[in-house]
Amino acid sequence: PRRVVLDCDPGHDDALALLLAAGHPGIDIAAITTVGGNQTLEKVTRNALAVATVAGLDDVVVAAGCDRPLVRDAVLTDPRTHGESGLDGPVLPEPAVALDPRHGVDVIIEAVMAAGPGTVTLVPTGPLTNVATALRREPCIAARVREVVLMGGGYSKGNVTAAAEFNIYTDPEAAHVVFSAPWRVTMVGLDLTHQALATPDVVERFRALGTTAGRFVVDMLDFFGPAYRAKQGFPAPPVHDVCAVARVIDPDVVRVRPAHVAVELRGEHTTGMTVTDFAGREGQELDHLVATELDVARFWDLVLGAVGRLP
Ligand code: BDR
Ligand code: CA
Repeated sequence: PRRVVLDCDPGHDDALALLLAAGHPGIDIAAITTVGGNQTLEKVTRNALAVATVAGLDDVVVAAGCDRPLVRDAVLTDPRTHGESGLDGPVLPEPAVALDPRHGVDVIIEAVMAAGPGTVTLVPTGPLTNVATALRREPCIAARVREVVLMGGGYSKGNVTAAAEFNIYTDPEAAHVVFSAPWRVTMVGLDLTHQALATPDVVERFRALGTTAGRFVVDMLDFFGPAYRAKQGFPAPPVHDVCAVARVIDPDVVRVRPAHVAVELRGEHTTGMTVTDFAGREGQELDHLVATELDVARFWDLVLGAVGRLP
């Protein structure tokens, strides 16, 4: 199995991404680290512990990381999307998993450095503050990780502004650090994640699992679906972060293209935009991979199969 660090801010789609990782035999979770994003660090950490509990991950490492962006003030997601708790909808169980006392950034560094070279994959699904801080404290992680597969950005649209996606918009300086480090990033952005819609038939498949985890997902989608419909006009909610984990498990689920990605830090209308160049027009190396197309049927089979293995 692929050893991963899930760096997240749950968040409904982060929570489903955790469940996918927990249930799939192709993934071995080295650690879950949290970052302020969809909600405050305190709330998203509590949510991560609750989701780990639902998944039956009794002795997984969960550690809290950075509570605010590197430079800018925090922009929490509009509470209409994820609720005041960051994970409104399901009743969250009392965590059976204890919070690791270490800082999330230290946990990321230790997980990468303790494992063999080229073995740990980082899967960030929130603002990139922890990962950027880890790179600054221990630059050796860049050469040591297997790869970075993140949810964030997009090459044709944004969701906070016309140009910028939430995870990148929240901490563009951190995103700049991550995209300019000497490692390969797979950017799973909005162009891809807007293809991963939890349509009513998908919700019914989760319900039909008849398990605690299946019920938990239905309760999440019962909140997340109407929230996305009301706020962004989507017929069904896109489960962004799940796509990044799916790509790690089965690369064929997500088609990618090589590209160079620069993060706009000073745009009048474009701050936080992931400026994606598929042609290397200014002579830059096409050093990253950018997700373009989702195999929708294969994706949901993968997710349902994994969640179906949970309690
Ligand atoms: C991203 O923003 C958050 O609201 C989601 O959890 C996802 O990581 C989508 O723009
Ligand atoms: Ca997220």
